[in-house]
Amino acid sequence: MKNNAIIITGANGNVGSYFAKKYCELDENLILVIHKSNHRIKQLVSNYPDRLKILQADLSNYSNLKLELAKIINETGWIPDRLIHTATARSSVIKSLADSDPDLWKNIINANLVGTFNILKTSLEYFKKNNNGKIVLFGSNVSRIGLPKGTAYSASKAGIANIGRSLATEEAACNIIVNTVSPGPIKIDDSEFTESYRKFRQEYYEEKLREIPLKRCASFQDIFGLCEFLLSKDNSYITGEEFFITGGKI
Ligand SMILES: NC(=O)c1ccc[n+]([C@@H]2O[C@H](COP(=O)([O-])OP(=O)(O)OC[C@H]3O[C@@H](n4cnc5c(N)ncnc54)[C@H](OP(=O)(O)O)[C@@H]3O)[C@@H](O)[C@H]2O)c1
Repeated sequence: MKNNAIIITGANGNVGSYFAKKYCELDENLILVIHKSNHRIKQLVSNYPDRLKILQADLSNYSNLKLELAKIINETGWIPDRLIHTATARSSVIKSLADSDPDLWKNIINANLVGTFNILKTSLEYFKKNNNGKIVLFGSNVSRIGLPKGTAYSASKAGIANIGRSLATEEAACNIIVNTVSPGPIKIDDSEFTESYRKFRQEYYEEKLREIPLKRCASFQDIFGLCEFLLSKDNSYITGEEFFITGGKI
């Protein structure tokens, strides 16, 4: 029986829940980090209670995250060796920087950038102990083109890719590989977004779709295929990179 495990953040999200299902089918042990809700993975976890463990945490709270992860490791004896960090906060208030509320702006940065630091620091403790780890962070195409009326989100996505580049160098000697996957529009279920955010997103994506040579949004499979390779044993040399999945759009 395997005793290594993959940590997936945002595990109840669109991309995270798809990854949870795919890696479950591949017989992996999974630590599924969720925030408020679990409806997309609840059934899956109850079908595979020995291989799938839920860790409920706000990523911006370091000490709680560290404690909850340690509890799962102690209980299962698993050795985490991969991290897929898909969790993200988005602002439901669509405003230009000049009109933004400073506290709301800071909340997004806190969840996304401090949250990224926290999950990395917590996971690295285990990866470094075993001199083995592979990490995929999630950025976005907005990290290179910006996002008018979404500056906190786009700044945090650019920051995540930058953290990935630095970390890849810092931890190369410990056999830890770090890459960032930065998609353009993904075909997702947007029914849970607020009315105003959904409208903002749909208008933005309609405009972007006209510019995508392949004329469609990315599918979950498009994203999974690349991530699976980056996290696999076949990848021992590609690190510190940011990969854009945008159907040919620069
Ligand atoms: N969807 C796209 O078109 C698109 C395009 C480019 C890049 N991306 C990137 O791809 C990744 C996955 O996107 P997605 O569409 O799957 O996102 P999603 O469906 O919105 O899922 C994000 C998840 O992050 C969790 N989360 C939010 N704040 C958190 C916090 N403070 N602590 C812990 N978890 C938190 C949310 O949990 P709760 O709902 O319970 O709060 C949610 O399950 C993201 O990093 C996103 O930036 C997505």
